[in-house]
Amino acid sequence: MTQNVTAAPAATDSASARQWWRDAVIYQVYPRSFADGDGDGMGDLPGITARLPHLRDLGVDAVWLSPFYASPQADAGYDVADYRAVDPMFGTLSDAETLIREAHALGLRVIFDIVPNHCSDRHEWFRQALREGPGSAVRDRFHFRPGKGAAGELPPNDWESVFGGPAWSRVPDGAWYLHLFAPEQPDFNWDHPAVHEEFRSVLRFWLGLGVDGFRIDVAHGLVKASGLPDIGHAEQVKLLGKQAVPYFDQDGVHAIYRDWRRILEEYGAERIAVAEAWTPTVERSARYLRPDELHQAFNFEYLTTGWDAAALRAVIDRSLTAMNAVDAPATWVLSNHDVVRHRTRLADGDAARGLRRARAATLLMLALPGSAYLYQGEELGLPEVTKLPAEVRQDPAFFRSTGQDGTRDGCRVPMPWSGRRRPFGFGPVAGGPSWLPQPDSWEHLTVAAQTGDPASTLEFYRRALAVRRTHPALGAGRDIAWLPSPEGVLAFRRTAPGGAFVCTVNLTAAPLAVPTPGTPLLASAETEPGAETEPGAETEPGAEVESGVEVEPGAGRTVLPADSTVWWAA
Ligand code: NOJ
Repeated sequence: MTQNVTAAPAATDSASARQWWRDAVIYQVYPRSFADGDGDGMGDLPGITARLPHLRDLGVDAVWLSPFYASPQADAGYDVADYRAVDPMFGTLSDAETLIREAHALGLRVIFDIVPNHCSDRHEWFRQALREGPGSAVRDRFHFRPGKGAAGELPPNDWESVFGGPAWSRVPDGAWYLHLFAPEQPDFNWDHPAVHEEFRSVLRFWLGLGVDGFRIDVAHGLVKASGLPDIGHAEQVKLLGKQAVPYFDQDGVHAIYRDWRRILEEYGAERIAVAEAWTPTVERSARYLRPDELHQAFNFEYLTTGWDAAALRAVIDRSLTAMNAVDAPATWVLSNHDVVRHRTRLADGDAARGLRRARAATLLMLALPGSAYLYQGEELGLPEVTKLPAEVRQDPAFFRSTGQDGTRDGCRVPMPWSGRRRPFGFGPVAGGPSWLPQPDSWEHLTVAAQTGDPASTLEFYRRALAVRRTHPALGAGRDIAWLPSPEGVLAFRRTAPGGAFVCTVNLTAAPLAVPTPGTPLLASAETEPGAETEPGAETEPGAEVESGVEVEPGAGRTVLPADSTVWWAA
């Protein structure tokens, strides 16, 4: 193993250019399902490295990898047994170094997942804690407690696991330990100094290998209210619960992130961290982004907002206000490995409507000031796979049926790359395995099938990211100016020294005429025969205008198709 730090791409002397994360488009790779280099049916690091050119061609700035560390895979790798080792099913440490180096060579930054709330029950500390029995000092690094009831047969408090069932499990010697997720994921006790020291060391380990940042799993969960008090009310562990609970979003977490910020800065100002913090409001999320804490937090309130103009406008406004108050970039996200893919979530049961809305939602998201997260496969318009047989499912929440999730395998089905037979280039051999089966219909959704087809979702994403990268009013920023618009339509302007930009979104089920705000740059609607841009309308050099934008000649009005977004140079 070498300890060489590989230079991150695009570093410059200018302070604003160094803050690359303020407008970055960050692409989430789910390692199990991105690309399988060795043909065992499971994605791996060499597979990802070989496919990095796809991400360069797509035009993203950075790639975030979900965990690939040594793990028994009780929660698909979010149960880490060794934070400094790559699980053999994903490759080796040297494969991780190669991935970082190759990504940097392609101009892509690399963000790894860190899982500090809990580890695996196969982690050496937890095994030692079990071996040594009651009274072992190592048990203090977790939350071990005696049970309630005459014989200690009841859990120590009333907390429930996010995956369903009690948040406590009992070990053979009678003690109970806390796990907010699966029983195989014991929670660390962040009141213990050894836990702090260990994670400082883990951060430095990966920073030393050249990683550009971390996505912090369950960032809001590390500190529990002292005494682990009962909740006493019905609302238990909902990730986006509106009620305060004693295990999430406790004030004590912020000292940890101030400490981590100092560590990141030991490696320069370009290393970042993004919080996965399911807080009740964007205002609470902003607290993680105060200037001496983290750089970004996922905007789950945005993700969970439906296809509704007023609700979206409200969450956009509140997000910008909250983030501006701490001088942090807003972030936007529509899909990830824990939620139903937005193509299906927004469909209301109609697949064609789902694709229309998904493309329109993506174009809205990419027009907003700040940074955006994409989840692998959304650039192909992949739907959720809703009909997986029970015997292939692996999501632990599926087996703990009262959990709030339980359906997360459907967004984790391996990527289709090419060819006419499953696994569609996911693995090296046609007809070879994939850990979850892809639908046959994905033959038409592969990267190869969509490349070069101007009507495809892939080419649409490539164009959108290219325009976002080059238009002066897109990307980083703090504000948007809402324009008057009919009910069900969102319209806003962004201005920059080099040019102005307008985004219009028709969220209604019918075409709607709006005043033409400028020259169309890009539209989300699929090609509709007969639709054309205004005769004589000038198009930005190099920008390709998709059909579907119908301008009423002479009337100064444009018909926005149902469920569509249009970008304009204004
Ligand atoms: C959030 C991760 O995104 C999810 O996949 C995981 O199950 C939980 N945290 C527990 O680590």
